[in-house]
Amino acid sequence: MSQSNWKEYFNDKAKTHGGSVMTSDYFNEKSFYIQRENTLKWLGALKGKEILDAGCGVGAFSETLVKENTVHGVDFSEKSLEFAKKRGLTTHCGDLGALPYENGKFDLVLCIGVIQLITDYKRIINELARVTKPGGTLLIETLNRNSLQRKMYSVINKDKKFDLMYTREELESIFNQLGFGSIEFMNIHHPLSFVTYKKGEGFIDKCFSTSFAIKGVKVKA
Ligand SMILES: C[S@@+](CC[C@H](N)C(=O)[O-])C[C@H]1O[C@@H](n2cnc3c(N)ncnc32)[C@H](O)[C@@H]1O
Repeated sequence: MSQSNWKEYFNDKAKTHGGSVMTSDYFNEKSFYIQRENTLKWLGALKGKEILDAGCGVGAFSETLVKENTVHGVDFSEKSLEFAKKRGLTTHCGDLGALPYENGKFDLVLCIGVIQLITDYKRIINELARVTKPGGTLLIETLNRNSLQRKMYSVINKDKKFDLMYTREELESIFNQLGFGSIEFMNIHHPLSFVTYKKGEGFIDKCFSTSFAIKGVKVKA
């Protein structure tokens, strides 16, 4: 789907689902909460931080961070942002490829479930890296290309729209090139709803995790 079609797609979903977590095309509500809870636990305590939720949608992923941090949410779906604003995010409607922030503004940049929609994903990751503070963390979550469940699903479901998928190695290489270190992975297994925290060399993580998250720390200049 083209960028303008995705924008309309998520505007419609936000309307249909009234801003609920299901706007974001999670497998089900339980999978959203498992993913959010484990991701936040993995990040550790966050207080007084400048956080960017890139492709925030309705803001459900980062809403629990709002109380003790400043959370900015960027998305091109204006309808989704109405709900993100109600959840307490400071919102900006626009493209992730041209963020309106100075270099190194954020302690933490989250980009959850977004790059599987974007062919030009390297440009977006560059932009996310630019606004991450030296010593700050960039975390990207996306679909695992090696997932056997996803391969089977794409054979059964010919209308499937989320056909961009990635390997851990691809994203690790981009993180390295952009000057990120201390790289770690979290592997997410749906529909069994568990996560593991290995690099994913083992068969179970490599071929059965449906998604994975990568996080790295921007090396100080
Ligand atoms: C699957 S949803 C994920 C939302 C949220 N991160 C979450 O996990 O609940 C993907 C979001 O990315 C946004 N998006 C996709 N491409 C974008 C782009 N180039 N610029 C801004 N937003 C984009 C969509 O509008 C949508 O809200």
